Amino acid sequence: MSTLFTPLTLPSPRGGITLPNRIVIAPMCQYSAVNGEATDWHLMHWGNLLNGGASMFTIEATAVLPEGRITPKCLGLWDDRTEAKLADTLHRARKLAPQTAVCIQLAHAGRKASSAIPWQGGQLLSPDNGGWPTYGPSALPQLPNEAPPTAMGAYELTRVREAFVAAALRADKMGVDAVELHAAHGYLLHEFLSPLANQRTDTYGGSLENRMRYPLEVFAAVRAAYQGVLGIRVSASDWVEGGLTADEVTEFAQRLKALGCDFIHVSSGGLSPQQKIAIGLGYQVHFARQIRAATGMVTTAVGLITEAQQAEDILQAGDADLIALARAFLYQPRWGWQAAAALGGTVEANPAYWRCLPREAQAAFGKVSIGGR
Ligand SMILES: Cc1cc2nc3c(=O)[nH]c(=O)nc-3n(C[C@H](O)[C@H](O)[C@H](O)COP(=O)(O)O)c2cc1C
Repeated sequence: MSTLFTPLTLPSPRGGITLPNRIVIAPMCQYSAVNGEATDWHLMHWGNLLNGGASMFTIEATAVLPEGRITPKCLGLWDDRTEAKLADTLHRARKLAPQTAVCIQLAHAGRKASSAIPWQGGQLLSPDNGGWPTYGPSALPQLPNEAPPTAMGAYELTRVREAFVAAALRADKMGVDAVELHAAHGYLLHEFLSPLANQRTDTYGGSLENRMRYPLEVFAAVRAAYQGVLGIRVSASDWVEGGLTADEVTEFAQRLKALGCDFIHVSSGGLSPQQKIAIGLGYQVHFARQIRAATGMVTTAVGLITEAQQAEDILQAGDADLIALARAFLYQPRWGWQAAAALGGTVEANPAYWRCLPREAQAAFGKVSIGGR
C-alpha cells in the first residue's frame, strides 16, 4: 500500500479536512494578473492543475496589499474588486474539479516587492518605471545597488498585520480549504526572521525572540480571526554564513505550533544573493525531517521531488507528511495520475478525461484508477 496514496487529515479549530492523498501542488506565481485581479490565464492554469491528481492545489503568492506584490503582474486579495475576481475565477475552475482541495498562499513581498516579472529581468522597478516604494524590517536592500526599502514603523506593522487578517477572511468567504502564510523566500515575514535583513534595534530585531516577534504576531492575528486550516511556508535556512539557521526556524516552528499552526511547508533560501544552496534531488527534505521531528506538526517537504517513488520514500522514512511539487506539475500537469499508475494508487478525474485509459492499454497504466473506473 502506497503511503503517497493514503489519506491525511489536516486539522483546524473548526474541524479538519481530509485529503485523499499526500500530493500537494506548491504555489507558483503566474505573473498574469491585471491590477491584482485573476485573469483567464488563472482559470486555464487552475483548471488544468486541479485535474492533475493532487489532493490539494495551492494558489500562487497572493498579495495582501498592492505594495506587497512581487511584481505589477502578481495576484492580490486586498479589496472587494480583487476578491470578486478571484472568487469568480476560483468558483469556475473548481466546478470542473470539486475533488481537489484549494489552499491560498497569502503574501507580502517586503523589500522584494516592486520587481519586474522574471522574463523581463526581475530587477527592482523604480516608481517612475512602473514600481513603487518598498518597505521592510530595516532599510537594507537585497542587492547592494538597489534602492533600500523604508524601515517599517508602527503604522506599517499594524497595516500589514491587519491586511493578512482581512485577506484570510476574504479567502475563507470564497471557500478556500486552507490558508498558507508566506514566510519564506526572502519576502516580508522571512525578512523579519533573518538577521541579514532585520537589523532593527527595537523589540522586533536582534535576538531570535525579537526577530520572530512580528511573524508570530501576524500568525496569531490570523489564527484568532480564521478558524479554518492555517499553515505557513518557511525558509528553513538562508544558506549564508551568519544568516537564518534550521535550528532557529525549528524554534520558530515550535512557537507556531503553540499558536495553533495546522501545517508547515518547509522550503529554503531566497533571502540573500550570497546564498550557497547545496542543490540536488530532495535537497530540502532534511529540513522538513528536523522540523517534523521537533514539532510533530503536519509537515510538507518540497524541492526537486520529481519521481513518485522518491516521494513515497520520503513519506515512508517519516521525513514529511505531505509532498509538494511545483515545476514537475508545470511540466506534467497529470503528475498525480502517473504517480498513481507507478505506485498502485487511485486518483479522481473529470469524466471527460476517462477515455485516456483505453481498455487495452490499462495494463500499461499499472493500477491507476480514475473516476472510479
Ligand atoms: C514558476 C514558479 C513560481 C513560483 N512561485 C512561488 C510562489 O508564489 N510562492 C512560493 O512560496 N514559491 C514559489 N515558487 C517556488 C515553488 O513553490 C517551489 O518551492 C520550488 O519551485 C521548488 O519545488 P520544485 O522543485 O518542485 O519546483 C515558484 C516556483 C516556480 C517554478
